[in-house]
Amino acid sequence: MKISKKLEKWVNEWAALCQPDSVHWCDGSETENQRLLDQMVKSGMAVKLNEAKRPNSYYFQSDPSDVARVENRTFICSEKQEDAGPTNNWMAPAEMKSVLTEMYRGCMKGRTLYVIPFSMGPLGSKIAHIGIQITDSPYVVVNMRIMTRMGSAVLDILGDHDFVPCIHSVGAPLQPGQKDAKWPCAPIEKKYISHFPETNETWSFGSGYGGNALLGKKCFALRIATNMARREGWMAEHMLITGITNPQGIKRYVAAAFPSACGKTNLAMLIPSIPGWKIETVGDDIAWMKFGEDGRLYAINPEAGFFGVAPYTSMETNPNAMLSCRSNSIFTNTALTPDGDIWWEGIGSDIPEGSLTWTNEIYNKENGKPAAHPNARFTAPAYQCPVIDKDWENPKGVPISAFLFGGRRPGTVPLVYQSFDWNHGVFLGSIVGSEVTAAAIGLKAGVRRDPFAMLPFCGYHMGDYFGHWVKIGQIAPDPAKLPKIFNVNWFRKGADGKFLWPGYGDNIRVLKWIFERVEGTAAAVETPIGFVPEKHAIDVDGLPGIAEKMDQILKVDKEEWLHECELIAEHQKIFGDRLPAEMKKQYDNLKARLEKK
Ligand code: GTP
Ligand code: SPV
Ligand code: MN
Repeated sequence: MKISKKLEKWVNEWAALCQPDSVHWCDGSETENQRLLDQMVKSGMAVKLNEAKRPNSYYFQSDPSDVARVENRTFICSEKQEDAGPTNNWMAPAEMKSVLTEMYRGCMKGRTLYVIPFSMGPLGSKIAHIGIQITDSPYVVVNMRIMTRMGSAVLDILGDHDFVPCIHSVGAPLQPGQKDAKWPCAPIEKKYISHFPETNETWSFGSGYGGNALLGKKCFALRIATNMARREGWMAEHMLITGITNPQGIKRYVAAAFPSACGKTNLAMLIPSIPGWKIETVGDDIAWMKFGEDGRLYAINPEAGFFGVAPYTSMETNPNAMLSCRSNSIFTNTALTPDGDIWWEGIGSDIPEGSLTWTNEIYNKENGKPAAHPNARFTAPAYQCPVIDKDWENPKGVPISAFLFGGRRPGTVPLVYQSFDWNHGVFLGSIVGSEVTAAAIGLKAGVRRDPFAMLPFCGYHMGDYFGHWVKIGQIAPDPAKLPKIFNVNWFRKGADGKFLWPGYGDNIRVLKWIFERVEGTAAAVETPIGFVPEKHAIDVDGLPGIAEKMDQILKVDKEEWLHECELIAEHQKIFGDRLPAEMKKQYDNLKARLEKK
């Protein structure tokens, strides 16, 4: 392993502060991984799943307080508060660092400090970046090994260059002789997920869960990377990337931003319900994009695995996700069956008698509590996805033809519509709204604005971020080659409270229209909000009962949209004078179009 002097010094300083019993440099090998897993099984933190049913896979139950991202304990520590903006929690960097330094002091007593060298993006790609995470959680190490390219090879490439430093502790030091908790973590008021955008650092304390602890993901690849991207003229987005091939063999890639638990993993790997179409997955959560030499926007998936929502994933809804996690995977907060397999609500079979819930109790149908936590997750290697794209690790990335925005909107928003142009598309991204889900702790139920699905992930002032999108339109080498922009909504409900659109594999029907709009062949009608499919332009062949509902599914109701305008106006006000003039103009234009007879 090639360890630079600079890196060694940095690790030594952190070890001196955190005072672990030992320091381990992760090489990323199979042997190392197995040793950590065996050790966690032995300590009672992990359960090895039935080898015949779920080869080389492990099961974890988190502490009941540590089940999702904690947005109210997430901080953007820019020098000036105004640079973090109205949608982020803020503390001055010096103050946060002094608070956290005291919390980190001795925080790894009785534990091992693991050093994880990782690359976000294919090793050596010009779009990729290297990070080093320090952690005292072996659960984090085995997850990072699936989610990133991790180990010695990364250090060989890094050499003397700079890396993104990521500090993590579960915040639960052990006294001599003290027995460890099954899932060590700190109470909520001691959790801190902090980011220092000006120095590209992440300091996380107190949580072992997902986006709070696997720092390559939301902390680095979004909150820090949005800052890097803004400075350097590229894009870091909460987007899936997928390739669509039509029956003639023409292939186009699209990237889609939906808020957490709103369908990215599902769309990224769907099995088309119409013949002749093919979907191939590049990524399911994050996209980093740069302009290529041909003037098109190229995207890479900085991750190497899927950290997917388990509940309601089934062989019916998302077979490719089920197949991705059939082996070599980690399951967190699902239920555990008596024969050593996992189970969750909506998996497609009844829960076996005697199964354990995520809180480690025998499942009892009577008490109304779910067996799996609604934010239970699987961690699965991307290469195991049956429809992984042949270019998913191409260091150049894949060229993007369309951007999709969307969220869970029970009313108002039609199944799909297209923006008039780039800036109108940026406006569509800026007004994304969605009913909140279980992916974050402690949010009020109902629809909230989640611009670009980035509300919890934008590492600087959201108004400036809208401005960055406008600027991307201006610096594009060839504006005609910019992706076309669409908004989709799989979640519109009828009067009976049920989803009007079947969703999942049938979403290909919407992708088909989008594909054909990009090619310039699909029919659309111009409405005040954008181009909506002409009534018969969405292929509903073989979908019983849907043709009759199409009017309702595609409806643009002026009254509803005038009410939406009031909500948009309130939302825009939050950004004060950092709202780009172009976004205000887009709002005025929308309102004027709606008010026109
Ligand atoms: P994160 O990993 O949190 O970023 O979530 P995600 O955007 O990848 O969402 P995911 O694809 O995991 O879907 C979340 C939930 O939405 C799952 O329970 C899915 O079953 C459900 N879902 C996904 N697509 C559809 C759809 O087209 N229609 C309906 N009704 N539900 C869907
Ligand atoms: C999300 O919440 O958008 C996720 C899961 O993808 S986490 O890694 O916890 O952020
Ligand atoms: Mn996500």
